Amino acid sequence: MAQVPWRVDRLEVYITEEELQKRVAELGAQISRDYEGKDLLLVAVLKGSVVFLADLMRQITIPHSIDFMATSSYGAATESSGIVRILKDLDIPIIGRNVLIVEDIVDTGHTLSYLRRLLLEREPASLRVVTLLDKRERREVDVPLDYVGFVVPNAFVVGYGLDYAELYRNLPYIAIPKEGFFDEE
Ligand code: IMP
Ligand code: MG
Repeated sequence: MAQVPWRVDRLEVYITEEELQKRVAELGAQISRDYEGKDLLLVAVLKGSVVFLADLMRQITIPHSIDFMATSSYGAATESSGIVRILKDLDIPIIGRNVLIVEDIVDTGHTLSYLRRLLLEREPASLRVVTLLDKRERREVDVPLDYVGFVVPNAFVVGYGLDYAELYRNLPYIAIPKEGFFDEE
């Protein structure tokens, strides 16, 4: 399968590694305080959230466990269609547990809105959301966000877990494509 070209030279750093690490530490500290003495389960949404989850959980100083879900939205590579499909469900029941959904980015809000409804039906003790990025200008459905890392403008971003055609997830920073990034050759 043909890969898109690797073009880090056509990316502009938008949030540096240092800024990300500082903010993730703040979120981890706040979550640790808020869930002190409670049974906490982090539910990360694959694949974009894995980098954020790995850093965030190491900044959470209280006992907690993790689990994963995978969703996919039909439609073009950089647009959300509003139709969400579950590719992988949780391994464990969440009834009576304090669930914190870990998202990489909330864009139209369709993915998260669907996920919240699905998980609420399973009667967790509580259900909150932490997202690294909030692209709120693009919101189509209102969805409550309890912890937000950064608000980002209406631009496609990559890095720190976020991909373009499955690439660039490994960049330790968040970047915005410059002129020529999406060119075919
Ligand atoms: P939503 O359902 O429109 O909120 O989209 C959520 C999903 O779309 C995210 O979890 C990402 O996987 C993907 N997404 C949205 N915006 C971006 C972006 O700027 N870069 C990479 N992926 C994105
Ligand atoms: Mg994604």
